Amino acid sequence: MAAPLISPSILSADFAKLGEEVRAIDAAGADWIHVDVMDGHFVPNITIGPGVVKAIRPHSSKPFDVHLMISPVDNFLDAFAEAGADMITVHPEAGPHLHRTIQRIKALGKKAGVSLNPATPAKMLDYVLEELDLVLVMSVNPGFGGQKFIPSQLKKIEAVANRVAKENLRVDIEVDGGIDPQTAPQAVSAGATVLVAGTAAFRGGPGVYAANIQALRGGG
Ligand code: DX5
Ligand code: ZN
Repeated sequence: MAAPLISPSILSADFAKLGEEVRAIDAAGADWIHVDVMDGHFVPNITIGPGVVKAIRPHSSKPFDVHLMISPVDNFLDAFAEAGADMITVHPEAGPHLHRTIQRIKALGKKAGVSLNPATPAKMLDYVLEELDLVLVMSVNPGFGGQKFIPSQLKKIEAVANRVAKENLRVDIEVDGGIDPQTAPQAVSAGATVLVAGTAAFRGGPGVYAANIQALRGGG
């Protein structure tokens, strides 16, 4: 089984020195940089906006994997695209026009992702899956880092992976929430190709970021 890509979430980084943290996690071997955007409305937490994405953009050339946990989302797509997002992932639970939102992300020249909350069935992807570059399966209820992995999501990862394989689609399957060296191999064997990790990537400080990422990649 191919080793997963690792997309560390800067939600767990030191917000007082985000540029430095992005440089450090990039140098430590991150494949992507996961940027958790929260509005205090779609999720019970507030984090950062397009201005911070713009500020950290010069500190890494790795793809910015921007996860928009905001509602409504459409009025912010252009701002995040201009700020430097490479992939923009949205939640179907955040609004009524998912297909139109995906069309807009692609019209902006960005990769399009859809993220499913733990209670949202994979069926939600039925009429958009072939438009996507990425499916993000939430293995925690979104809003905070440091939560426990929800094992019931393994079946959803498998269901999405089976559909992607069956329809021969080029869609990455990313898993987000509670990923650590114990849960990483479970997610990968269920079909994950990209793992998001906040706590497990940033814990211990810059001196161990590379070891943290290696442990997630090796899964053990
Ligand atoms: C949660 C975010 C996740 C979170 C992961 O709402 O979408 O990306 O930062 O954090 P850990 O890896 O600590 O569960
Ligand atoms: Zn996220």
